[in-house]
Amino acid sequence: MLRDEDRIFQNIYGMKDRTLKGAQARGLWDDTAGLLARGRDWIIDEMKKSGLRGRGGAGFPTGLKWSFMPKESDGRPHYLVVNADESEPATCKDREIMRHDPHTLIEGCVVAGFAMGAHAAYIYIRGEFIREREALQSAIDECYDAGLLGPDAHGWGFDVYLHHGAGAYICGEETALLESLEGKKGMPRLKPPFPANTGLYGCPTTVNNVESIAVAPTILRRGGEWFAGFGRNNNAGTKLFGLTGHINTPCVVEEAMSIPMRELIEKHGGGVRGGWKNLKAVIPGGASCPIIPASQCEDAIMDYDGMRELKSSFGTACAIVIDQQTDVIKAVWRLAKFFKHESCGQCTPCREGTGWMMRVMDRLVTGDAEIEEIDMLLDVTKQVEGHTICALGDAAAWPIQGLIRHYRGEIEDRIKAKKTGRISAAVAAE
Ligand SMILES: Cc1cc2nc3c(=O)[nH]c(=O)nc-3n(C[C@H](O)[C@H](O)[C@H](O)COP(=O)(O)O)c2cc1C
Ligand code: SF4
Repeated sequence: MLRDEDRIFQNIYGMKDRTLKGAQARGLWDDTAGLLARGRDWIIDEMKKSGLRGRGGAGFPTGLKWSFMPKESDGRPHYLVVNADESEPATCKDREIMRHDPHTLIEGCVVAGFAMGAHAAYIYIRGEFIREREALQSAIDECYDAGLLGPDAHGWGFDVYLHHGAGAYICGEETALLESLEGKKGMPRLKPPFPANTGLYGCPTTVNNVESIAVAPTILRRGGEWFAGFGRNNNAGTKLFGLTGHINTPCVVEEAMSIPMRELIEKHGGGVRGGWKNLKAVIPGGASCPIIPASQCEDAIMDYDGMRELKSSFGTACAIVIDQQTDVIKAVWRLAKFFKHESCGQCTPCREGTGWMMRVMDRLVTGDAEIEEIDMLLDVTKQVEGHTICALGDAAAWPIQGLIRHYRGEIEDRIKAKKTGRISAAVAAE
């Protein structure tokens, strides 16, 4: 288990003082100007050495991403944008940072912004996060009062603006987020151009997840190599993991990357409801990650490569644990309904495909389908996947692909049971 002194988030449970004074007592804001004095290249190199990969889901190397920002300004300002939209079902890790340890994020904005040549950061926070935005705004205000933000801060000058979203999942997609920040409808942009060239207000911009930014000051203080010492090669660092669903103690916990899934569930989640044998499946990192059956969870390693090997994905590392009493077809149907609801409607495969997939899923839940429709549904997921402007299309396709891969037998049984009148009263009634 990760030692307490190696935890970056020292107040993730809100048991300690979250104000500036408390944060300083835990080592934050300690000679931030000294970190900046070591220069942009040093910061970016140290982040590269750390092996940190974006914590928003896609896992893109953070130091490399920062290095894409132009070295010199061509007259346009540079911006850091922090993605605090956190709307992925079951994901609630950034929220804990913002409400209990907000100074990690604000100091992170300063060091990351400086490394990109930016003098301002915009934090785009999910509309429903009322208490989180209050906590964050009061921390930002404290920083202005203390001179840690503002025109003279750290000999560089830095502003942080907190912008409230209005509660649309798609605004978590980075280019939709930029559109929304600019006051337009949150609809994803075509790439290229990429934000590092043409982002917010047409200026060079980097969008990063809350956790990716909040870990940066500690990485710089303790060194990239320290961070790289946790987890397997290419999967470095410590990470906030989330556990929800049918476990005894749902939680968010900072652990070393590459922790075995079973250890995570049993040590931190208090075990599966009804015991490990009662586990049916795990959705490892947010709604879009394909489901993993219990037989594969036993030896699963919670990191990017571990989840990829199981044809799933690490995502946000916030897992949904599903027990044997669950109707897994219905669980995935619920996700299909979510993605259909959240599609922005810009591209045809996603707009039409998410509705189409959901309606077939409606019938698979009750068994009112033909066996051949399972392959037809799979075929539609393939027509949506990779054929859309943003990754919401993929996110809608993957859970269904995972369901068919592992639970085809269960889907077929239900269809046959319906045809022969054997379907349980419970399923029929739902
Ligand atoms: C539909 C959709 C929703 C997303 N929602 C979020 C989100 O709520 N928070 C987040 O950090 N990234 C989200 N992302 C990923 C972002 O587009 C982007 O990759 C991320 O903010 C980059 O930060 P990182 O490199 O630090 O991970 C979403 C992506 C998609 C396609
Ligand atoms: S994939 Fe879906 S959510 Fe993304 S741009 Fe296309 S229609 Fe909108």
